[in-house]
Parts: sequence; structure tokens; C-alpha cells
Amino acid sequence: MEQRRIGDVDVSAIGLGGMPMSIEGRPDEQRSVRTIHAALDAGVTIIDTADAYHLYADDVGHNESLIAGALASYGGDTSGVLVATKGGHLRPGDGSWTLNSSPEYLKSACEASLKRLGTDAIGLYQHHRPDPKVPYADSIGALRDLLDAGKIRMAGISNADPDQIRLAQEILGGRLVSVQNEFSPRFRSSEPELRLCDEIGVAFLPWSPLGGIGSAGGLGDRFPAFGEVARAHGVSPQQVCLAWMLAKSPVVIPIPGSSRPETILDSVAADRLRLSDEELARLDG
Ligand SMILES: NC(=O)c1ccc[n+]([C@@H]2O[C@H](COP(=O)([O-])OP(=O)(O)OC[C@H]3O[C@@H](n4cnc5c(N)ncnc54)[C@H](OP(=O)(O)O)[C@@H]3O)[C@@H](O)[C@H]2O)c1
Repeated sequence: MEQRRIGDVDVSAIGLGGMPMSIEGRPDEQRSVRTIHAALDAGVTIIDTADAYHLYADDVGHNESLIAGALASYGGDTSGVLVATKGGHLRPGDGSWTLNSSPEYLKSACEASLKRLGTDAIGLYQHHRPDPKVPYADSIGALRDLLDAGKIRMAGISNADPDQIRLAQEILGGRLVSVQNEFSPRFRSSEPELRLCDEIGVAFLPWSPLGGIGSAGGLGDRFPAFGEVARAHGVSPQQVCLAWMLAKSPVVIPIPGSSRPETILDSVAADRLRLSDEELARLDG
């Protein structure tokens, strides 16, 4: 698969988002492991997860443990796989998502993720979402301390606006490697962050790139231009969507979620799909 870059690491241009395998509607563990193994077979080397991808109060880190287990049981070499996790969100078990980005909490969350991932240093640790109760600079200061302590190899942020991206870059002393924001045909307002990442050479990871769990299947109906271009190429609208994102900038690395081998295998084929300038303009419209 085409390679792109996060910090000093080459990764596949399309990643795997782990969330659908661990939250509401998650499949049984065997199907999830088959999905992760199918992604690895296809050359995926970036897997996105978070400690908050779980369902019940007592299964925090379900997705991190699942991914660590699937990597361990995979027959091939996984040394080149970047597992990107996050801290700062919590799920108390009632379906809600809460926030805690105090430096103390982020550092303790990172320690717990290190244990679940079974590593001495997390490949990419991302601040999950700004917490209005905590100054952003303090939360990012925790990431800087984790980098300096060697607990994390690279630092990223998520759900950040351009000012927060610039502030994070300053606090991390130029070591910010990635920004993960929502971006899809239905949610295009992250274009300014995407353009800023392109300018400063920071990876941009669109989350919910297909419109999110439950909506991804209907992408071609909801956005007819994607369905029409897909029919012209004999591929799925989801592949067209991912190819459209890849064409926006070499810093873009979409992380479509999957809970079935079929969907991740269809998604990874997007890196071979070339769209004309006219088609790209139509999808932008
Ligand atoms: N930073 C944040 O705040 C944040 C927030 C949300 C998500 N994320 C990350 O971003 C990742 C992606 O977002 P998401 O999972 O919410 O939404 P998504 O990627 O837009 O959609 C996921 C759904 O798309 C389906 N799908 C995937 N590839 C497909 C294909 N080629 N054809 C048809 N359907 C396809 C999957 O179905 P099946 O389940 O049937 O395989 C899956 O349920 C997450 O997994 C998570 O890692 C981050």
C-alpha cells in the first residue's frame, strides 16, 4: 500500500479505526480479531484506538487490549505497526462520554494504556479532546512531559482548532506529529485544520471519514456525487470517499472504522483508485 508519514514513521496511507469493535454494537471478539488480521494482511500499519473505546464501566481499554491481543496472535511481523491511542475521554458505562484532561489524569491514563498495550513506550499518544475545565496548555504540557520521560514516542492531538494546533506545536517544541479531527462528506468544516497541517507538515487523520458507525453504509445515497463516481469506476462509494481524502494532501491518513474483514479490505483498496481533477472538483462541490 502507498506509504505516508507520521513523524519519523512510515505508515500505510489508509489506517484501521478500532472504535466499532469495542463500543455499542460491537461484534464478538473472534470477528474483531479476524478484522484486525485482515487489515494487517492487506498492509495496514496504523491502527487507531483509545482507552475510552469500551462499553461497560469495568472494561476500560477494551479496544487497546483487543488490538494488543490481535497483534500478538498474528502470524507475521508486526514490528512496523504503529498503534495510536488516546487519553482524555472517559465512559462511565451509561453510554455517555465524559472528559478529564488534567495533567495528573492524562499521565495516569497513559500508564494504564502502556500496560494494556504491553509496551514500554506508546508509538503515538493523542490528546483525545479539549476539556473546558483545564487550560489547553496544561493538557498538552502533560504530553510534553510524557515525551520527555520516554513514555510515548510521538505526540498528537484530536478535535483541535487551528489556534490549538499552533499552541500544541509550540508547547511540544515542534514535536507535534498528528492532528485527528472529524472530516467526511457530511462534515467538511475541518478543512482549515487540514490545510494548516499540510502547511506545517503534520499528519491529518480524518475520523469518522465515512460519516460514522451506522451512517457509513448509506454514504453513496446521502451524497449522490460519491455514488455516481463510484459507479463510473465500478467501486464502492466508501472507496471513492477515501480516495478523495487522500488526494487532498499527502499529510492525510484516513482511519476508517471496521468491524468486519470485508469493509476494511474494501477501504484499503482506495489507495489504488485515481480520481480525475474533474471528479475531485465534483466531490468537493
Ligand atoms: N478522535 C475522536 O474524537 C474520534 C471520534 C470518533 C472516531 N474516531 C476514530 O476514527 C475511526 C473511524 O471513525 P468511525 O468508526 O466513527 O466512523 P467511520 O469510519 O466513518 O465508519 C465506520 C463504519 O464504516 C463501515 N465501513 C468501513 N469501511 C467500509 C466500506 N469500505 N464500505 C462500507 N462500509 C464501511 C464499518 O462497517 P462495519 O462495522 O460493518 O465493518 C464501520 O462500522 C474510529 O474507529 C476511531 O478510531 C476518533
